[in-house]
Amino acid sequence: MTRDRRTGEESPTAFGVEEAGRRRPSRSARAPTVLRAFALDVEDDLLAALEPVLAQSPLRHMVTPGGFRMSVAMTNCGAVGWVANRSGYSYSPIDPTCGRAWPAMPVAFAGLATRAAARAGYRGFAPDACLINRYDPGSKLSLHQDKDERDLAAPIVSVSLGLPAIFLFGGLTRRDPQQRLCLVHGDVVVWGGLARLAYHGVAPLKIGHHPRLGGHRVNLTFRKAL
Ligand code: SIN
Ligand code: FE2
Repeated sequence: MTRDRRTGEESPTAFGVEEAGRRRPSRSARAPTVLRAFALDVEDDLLAALEPVLAQSPLRHMVTPGGFRMSVAMTNCGAVGWVANRSGYSYSPIDPTCGRAWPAMPVAFAGLATRAAARAGYRGFAPDACLINRYDPGSKLSLHQDKDERDLAAPIVSVSLGLPAIFLFGGLTRRDPQQRLCLVHGDVVVWGGLARLAYHGVAPLKIGHHPRLGGHRVNLTFRKAL
């Protein structure tokens, strides 16, 4: 067990989780790399850049092909954005809500994603899509694989902001056992290689108050989609 210096909570260093700095991250492992507090030194830049993005392409609750309204509110920035609707999941250059291109990816976002990927062993990561997820208390993300991207050689980079959440990280089948990682403001998780198609999800968000984001969690997920 280790004690998180920001939350004081004990968290398991579960099998397979590679805490960067302790062990050299390896691409071969079916494990995510957890970069604790990696985004903290750019939090002001991230939050300042987020505002105009949300003003241009507001958060919305997408509807899955099965007809379910997602509890997580989402939007995107970058050349393409991930969209769900009754006909499926895809990446689109157009925000369907307003019929215009998604906001450009802020330099602070792309720079952080590239640095985090490099720290985890993936050099030259150049994301073209950033999915922005906002969780309210009770919001959750069911177990899923990120598999709508064309380039599965590129990793996924996931930045956690605001309230803490339990991130579930499993294996290549839905039934594989899952690690439960407590992610707090500033943590970044990177997964690729043999873990690229691992099932993952987020447990229902607990009520809380975060000094920067109030009663929410915001997650930025960077991908190379095209
Ligand atoms: C995702 O899988 O798209 C988001 C994961 C998260 O919110 O941590
Ligand atoms: Fe995902």
